[in-house]
Amino acid sequence: MIVLRKIKVLTIFGTRPEAIKMAPIVKKLDENQCIEHKVCVTAQHREMLDQVLRIFNITPDYDLNIFEPGQTLTQITIRAMEGLERVIIDFNPDLILVQGDTTTVFAGALTSFYHKVKIGHVEAGLRSGNLYSPYPEEANRKLTGVITDFHFAPTEKNKQNLLREGYDEEKIYVTGNTVIDALLYVVSEDYRFNDELLDNLDYKNKKIILLTSHRRENLGRPMENIFSAVRDVVLKNEDVEVVFPIHLNPKVREIAHRILDGLDRVHIIEPLEYLPFANLIARSYLVVTDSGGIQEEAPSLGKPVLVVRKETERPEGIEAGTAKLAGIDRENIFKEIDILVNDVNEYKKMANAVNPYGDGKASDRIVDIIVKRLGTELKMQKLR
Ligand code: UD1
Ligand code: UDP
Repeated sequence: MIVLRKIKVLTIFGTRPEAIKMAPIVKKLDENQCIEHKVCVTAQHREMLDQVLRIFNITPDYDLNIFEPGQTLTQITIRAMEGLERVIIDFNPDLILVQGDTTTVFAGALTSFYHKVKIGHVEAGLRSGNLYSPYPEEANRKLTGVITDFHFAPTEKNKQNLLREGYDEEKIYVTGNTVIDALLYVVSEDYRFNDELLDNLDYKNKKIILLTSHRRENLGRPMENIFSAVRDVVLKNEDVEVVFPIHLNPKVREIAHRILDGLDRVHIIEPLEYLPFANLIARSYLVVTDSGGIQEEAPSLGKPVLVVRKETERPEGIEAGTAKLAGIDRENIFKEIDILVNDVNEYKKMANAVNPYGDGKASDRIVDIIVKRLGTELKMQKLR
């Protein structure tokens, strides 16, 4: 008789978006009888990560607590790798899972590779085509891809990107994006914010613009342009009100307060928990963002998104007509927002709920693939 042991899987994540997109996988791995699963957070983010852990009720088995204010990319990489090496030696996993394109992802993949542990890359194959935008994320994705054993690509386009780079088709699985799994978990029509400002906004008569911006390559002049354009829109249009849950990065905060303070209809608020944030997207009129995850969530909720970047690795929303690249030029961003605020037809063209990023079952697919592929491998080892 062949007695099989459980497949040992270690999920590694460190920032807010990774936690949100990994949470549905964590749940499925925990439920699966064939898997022994542990969670390791690097805590590249601290408060913003903890917010997500709370919402999804995840208690990490390992918390490397590497966060330091003003951390550099090199410091994050070194501190994460040192901690991860100890965890990998302790747990000795068959597979590690990383999600996305942050420095935690690259550090997690590289440390695992050094220990000859298999790597599953969730959200594989996204490419902007510019190594410096998003920076350093485009490089992190490519570097991680080289040492990955299971590429979990959200869309067919992502798969094609990988094939073009010469990756073996047998290692690529199109699964959908787990962000949709997470979103379905939290959005509901009767949601109440329990927050005075958000509960009292006039979502019917005002045009609520949800704004976020944090990308490293936008810090400086591009971010000044984005916020100045938003300011111009607010000053011109009395029915516009802006909610800006601001990233904790002090560099973002300095620019935002310098340009947006003093406007009654601009509300700069602390980062929101995922539950209120997702429900706020659902109630907003329009989203203006340089975020990756929000570009995926807004189309699913039928909200037009203006992407304040020069290029995107998420062309699916643009092709579906719900997202548009507004660039980083002040006049152009102003023009694009102003059109959507004042031209009903243009607005209606973009306000369609489409779901190019998945059907809410990506995490099921990923866990099934792990069990099938690694389960068979363990059986073969036993038979030998
Ligand atoms: C990181 C990721 C980026 C992702 C973003 C999500 C990298 C290189 N970048 O960028 O891909 O889009 O997270 O938000 O991995 N801070 C806090 N508390 C927190 C989190 C951040 O104070 O909980 C502040 C600190 O001052 C920190 C700064 O924000 O130094 C930047 O954080 P960092 O993780 O280095 O980069 P992000 O811009 O957040
Ligand atoms: N988000 C959140 N609270 C906020 C802002 C964003 O929960 O105040 C969520 C958002 O819904 C999305 C994710 O955080 O799922 C995106 O994170 P971020 O924009 O920081 O990173 P990116 O996706 O650009 O890597």
